Amino acid sequence: MCGIVGSIGISAPQSYLLKGLHRLEYRGYDSAGIALLNGNGELKLAKTAGKVSDLEPLIDQEFDASIGIGHTRWATHGSATTENAHPHQSASGRFVIVHNGVIDNYLELADTYLKGVTFRSATDTEVIVQLVELFAQTSDTVEDALLKVLNLLDGSYALALIDITEPDKLYAAKQKSPMLIGVAEDGFIVCSDALAGVQRTNEFIEIHDGELVALTSNDVTISDLEGNTVERESFKVDLTDDTLDKGIYPFYMLKEIEEQPIALRRISEVYSHEEAISNELLEAVKEADRIYIVACGTSYNSGFVSKSWFERIAQKPAEIHIASEFAYDMPLLSQKPFFIFISQSGETADSRHALLRVNQLGYQSLTITNVKNSTLSREATFTLLLHVGPEVAVASTKAYTAQLAVLGYLIHTLAGSVDTFSHELRQVEVAVERLIAQQEDFETIAEDDLLDTPNAFYIGRGLDHLVSMENALKLKEISYIQTEAFPAGELKHGTIALIEEGTPVIALMTQPNVAAQTRSNLEEVKARGAKAITIVSGDLKTASDTIILDEVPVYLRPFLTVVVGQLLAYYTALHKGYNVDQPRNLAKSVTVE
Ligand code: G6P
Repeated sequence: MCGIVGSIGISAPQSYLLKGLHRLEYRGYDSAGIALLNGNGELKLAKTAGKVSDLEPLIDQEFDASIGIGHTRWATHGSATTENAHPHQSASGRFVIVHNGVIDNYLELADTYLKGVTFRSATDTEVIVQLVELFAQTSDTVEDALLKVLNLLDGSYALALIDITEPDKLYAAKQKSPMLIGVAEDGFIVCSDALAGVQRTNEFIEIHDGELVALTSNDVTISDLEGNTVERESFKVDLTDDTLDKGIYPFYMLKEIEEQPIALRRISEVYSHEEAISNELLEAVKEADRIYIVACGTSYNSGFVSKSWFERIAQKPAEIHIASEFAYDMPLLSQKPFFIFISQSGETADSRHALLRVNQLGYQSLTITNVKNSTLSREATFTLLLHVGPEVAVASTKAYTAQLAVLGYLIHTLAGSVDTFSHELRQVEVAVERLIAQQEDFETIAEDDLLDTPNAFYIGRGLDHLVSMENALKLKEISYIQTEAFPAGELKHGTIALIEEGTPVIALMTQPNVAAQTRSNLEEVKARGAKAITIVSGDLKTASDTIILDEVPVYLRPFLTVVVGQLLAYYTALHKGYNVDQPRNLAKSVTVE
């Protein structure tokens, strides 16, 4: 949650910090701030409630800053006000901090150490910076003071800190929240995601949990929480700044929806090769007597479809769990369990907590993620990457289809049917392209049938129900229309009471074995006034259906129904006038539990 950028020594830090914050807004965008320090120890601090674009005019572009730290916030402790926006300063103004994460024991620490201090904000973060000031009074160095403070903190943090009496030093530290050092030509940067840093470098150094970093413009020192120096090699990321631009698109979400056919092709290129999935991973899955899929949000929804494929195609029993529940209330495990974590970002705190529990029990696991070297990737036994390029819009789209495709390859590799799958996926790719070309039709449906409704339902059976869950999530998260997904047969057992004259009910009917039953359920709601919108496969169509899909193999139809759901959601939110990429209250990467 929240985004951090920082720099020391680099030219034009203001432009790096602002552009970096824009890149990180997917992590939170309810307030933002930047602190700049020059070589004489003069500080310029600007912060505001609102987005990074609201902060931009407050930044002094002429200031000869040598160090800068910036933050974009998703409020956890304290509402989204200018006072609670980061950076935060210590009482005397000597130390300035930006922080991601949650300090669980901040009230206790404030009570024990900071009784006389007047706090300016309601944040947990301010406690850290006030503690640094307190301990600095009795420590030989700022590093010593910081180490003492870090050893007291419970919870999660990525932080960057400046001391205005040392205008040639920038400090950073991390515990359970992501943070990287970037090696730039003329200095160093810090950022909570490489996306913010690639404008200046593609060479990064990882910071591990429980490490403190001290940077000057030409030197990096990493130490552990006992103060021992740690050596770490840098690594390169294969991201370029251009791949992060929206280009001709009004919103990233539409760009990412349209990238799906190319993404599927890239996944086929990578995973149709024999060695693409290691024998060790295949053996681990084969030996397991049950697969436990653990994820959140859209990744959780894609897990449902892959659970069904595991059972039908690879004859492997599988179950799916919400990570935040699994971490605290683990089910009774089978004799030989294997765990699959699905996470676009690879950083979701709930999923990470569940993975830590699995690691404690000594079981093997696989992370399916879009982000190389992400926390969940590093901490699982195996990783399969999505290879679809960064997903920036908060509403996840191409990650869902990519997760299905990568899991499809894993499952078909186990079943010995990769060539068939590659061939079938090619048909899907063409059908998705045709849907995208047809998007004006979905825009019309959104305008005519969805714009003015306060609520809506998706219904379907089997795989159609599983995709309905994702489609309902997509519509509600960006258009704020309360949308629920129901197994078509279950609606009549209670929820049908909510159907009124004109309530949109979107029925997915792509599965031949249950389409007729879903149609009957649709008649039941139509008889009570519902406005029916039907999404059907060509082989199941009738004259009155709304959207007809190409006839791809039955088990792969989720790829098509989900794209329709994405486009309906996109156009509904667009015509309601909302910021499609940054829906209210949400963040893309949720690094707090
Ligand atoms: C957040 C995002 C969702 C996403 C979920 C899981 O809630 O808003 O779009 O599906 O996190 O994220 P992950 O990166 O673990 O897939």
